[in-house]
Amino acid sequence: MSKKTTYITTPIYYVNAQPHLGHAYSTVVADTYSRFCKLRGDDVRFQTGTDEHGDKIVEAAAQENIEPRQYVDRIATMFKDTWPLLDIDYDRFIRTTDEDHVAVVKHILQTVYDGGDIYFDEYSGLYCTGCERFLIERELVDGKCSDHLVAPKEITEQNYFFRMSKYQQQLIDHIRNNPDFVTPERYRNEVLSFLSDPLDDLCISRPASRLNWGIRLPFDGNYVTYVWFDALINYLTGIGFPEGEQFEHYWSGAEHLIAKDILKPHAIYWPTMLMAAGVPLYKKLHVHGYWNVDETKMSKSLGNVIKPAQLVQDYGADAFRYFCLREMSFGLDASFSSAAIVARNNADLANDLGNLFSRSVSMIDKYCQSILPAPDKADQDNDLRHAAAEMISAYRIHMGEFKFHQGLQSVWEFVGAANRYIVRNEPWSLAKDENKTARLQTVLYNLGESLRLLALLLKPVMPQTALKMMKGLGIDSGSVVMQTLEQGGSWGLSVPGTKLSKVGNLFPRIDTKTQTKGPKKVPQHPKKSKTDPPKTGPQISFDQFKEIDLRVAKIVAAEALPKSKKLLKLSVLAPEERTIVSGLAGSYRPEDLVGQSVIIVANLKAAKLMGVLSEGMVLTAELKDDEGNDRLALVTVPGPVKAGTKLA
Ligand code: MSP
Repeated sequence: MSKKTTYITTPIYYVNAQPHLGHAYSTVVADTYSRFCKLRGDDVRFQTGTDEHGDKIVEAAAQENIEPRQYVDRIATMFKDTWPLLDIDYDRFIRTTDEDHVAVVKHILQTVYDGGDIYFDEYSGLYCTGCERFLIERELVDGKCSDHLVAPKEITEQNYFFRMSKYQQQLIDHIRNNPDFVTPERYRNEVLSFLSDPLDDLCISRPASRLNWGIRLPFDGNYVTYVWFDALINYLTGIGFPEGEQFEHYWSGAEHLIAKDILKPHAIYWPTMLMAAGVPLYKKLHVHGYWNVDETKMSKSLGNVIKPAQLVQDYGADAFRYFCLREMSFGLDASFSSAAIVARNNADLANDLGNLFSRSVSMIDKYCQSILPAPDKADQDNDLRHAAAEMISAYRIHMGEFKFHQGLQSVWEFVGAANRYIVRNEPWSLAKDENKTARLQTVLYNLGESLRLLALLLKPVMPQTALKMMKGLGIDSGSVVMQTLEQGGSWGLSVPGTKLSKVGNLFPRIDTKTQTKGPKKVPQHPKKSKTDPPKTGPQISFDQFKEIDLRVAKIVAAEALPKSKKLLKLSVLAPEERTIVSGLAGSYRPEDLVGQSVIIVANLKAAKLMGVLSEGMVLTAELKDDEGNDRLALVTVPGPVKAGTKLA
């Protein structure tokens, strides 16, 4: 059976700005998807590049007093040099100044012109230099372009026009008949809504007298090609259109990835251009939201532009890649902050995954001299196997649908299950009992196997970490079982007798204290004199005390609140189910709380914490751990006491 082909592209980035977080995000997503498709067994091609023509570039070069050619070479190199830092593994980096691209643009223009879909006309319109296009009245807000906040210039010119309106109905039909053509659905709806009004034709030329940095029209040398008409065609050039074998091979699997800012050119101009050129439409358009920084728009003028090289230096490529994919729900906007990336690094990576890896590997070392033991065939441990199978099937579906945050959530559910498996089986106790050696070996094998599956699934997201895990597990990264989900995605493929090797921790914890700029504020307490009587605070009457509804509550679910370092959301039975938000995150992992019976103040006035209504308070005691950090210890009640029991 021939392999499914996938051709994934990023937008080609304008070279009027240096690479930043937004470009890095799109490119990381495309790289992860490309690697995921390879894991799924597809034949994959991945393209990124730079968009180098048009007004904006001429302006940027002029500001630096250099020729456009010199300017674009410099910035394109910056993009090219950035991607290896993030482990981006593309097949082609295309530049719109590449010779083959210029030839393909001319070829398409000539084809569409010969087909009668390009005509010459005089046009007056409102031109926005930022957008590099004419805007229509209903796109303006208070007479200004809503993206660039400047009033467009009224321009009258003779130009060439593409008969886009002719293809309006054909495009509507295509979108209706192919629900996945534009996803997520909100963007599909946005495009259909735009198409519910009559579509204008598209001005596709600029007089060379006004702008000569562009591709000359093959049928009129006095004009250059409009930058969008030129740029979109990169997706065809990169696979050898029109003749190339690669075009035949990959085009039917073309999936474009963009952010919401360039939806219209990709969902309207591009498919109608393809229709006019007689080229089949691309398969899918995936649209993501925008990253803001600390809740505000990222912009040069605000000085909050985040550079990928800095991110890699501060957090490492893998932690950044994981953060991007886990934190943003694909399609929606998200907010970037150092606190958020540090929280994800410490909780998900260092704590959950890192600890699972280091505990498991060091127990195999301690109890089996670093040799993976053989499991007892009769001893199946079905729960863990089922959890692994569930993870793989959920991961495959979500990653394939660009729901990366959900794909990773499924993986972390399994990480949690494996950590609980250690707690439940207590290998350290099994090791003390000679009669339980077989059981100990089964448990350790199962942990090794869980880690192998995790390394396999994490390859697309965190390539370096996956390699390190494989090395630690003694598995050759080229081995067949680590290549595809089909070959390696079933339980029990780790080979007993494999020698593990020491690779150290997967992720260092990032010390939040060293992350904050400026000195840390230390709360001031009044000094106590040795003779002061112990303070007990204001006294309350017995009747007042009786007002407090203290009850036993059983925790049935716990999860981190994504935007908070401290808070966990608990579902408790007391005896009715209620939600309590509690500051336990620095002291407990959610999975360690489930099943515990604790004491709550049940009649505390409900209050919203980080947007979640908290109906009560869990009682805790403060303590200092071995390293002198403040921690909270839950006040727990033995299991047999029923949930809802009142404290007398
Ligand atoms: N050159 C055009 C694209 C032509 S594609 C045929 C262009 N370039 S751009 O440099 O402005 O890049 C826009 C793209 O960069 C967005 O679609 C998105 O992929 C990425 N991002 C830029 N800023 C972003 C955020 N703040 N957040 C997320 N991604 C954003 O438009």
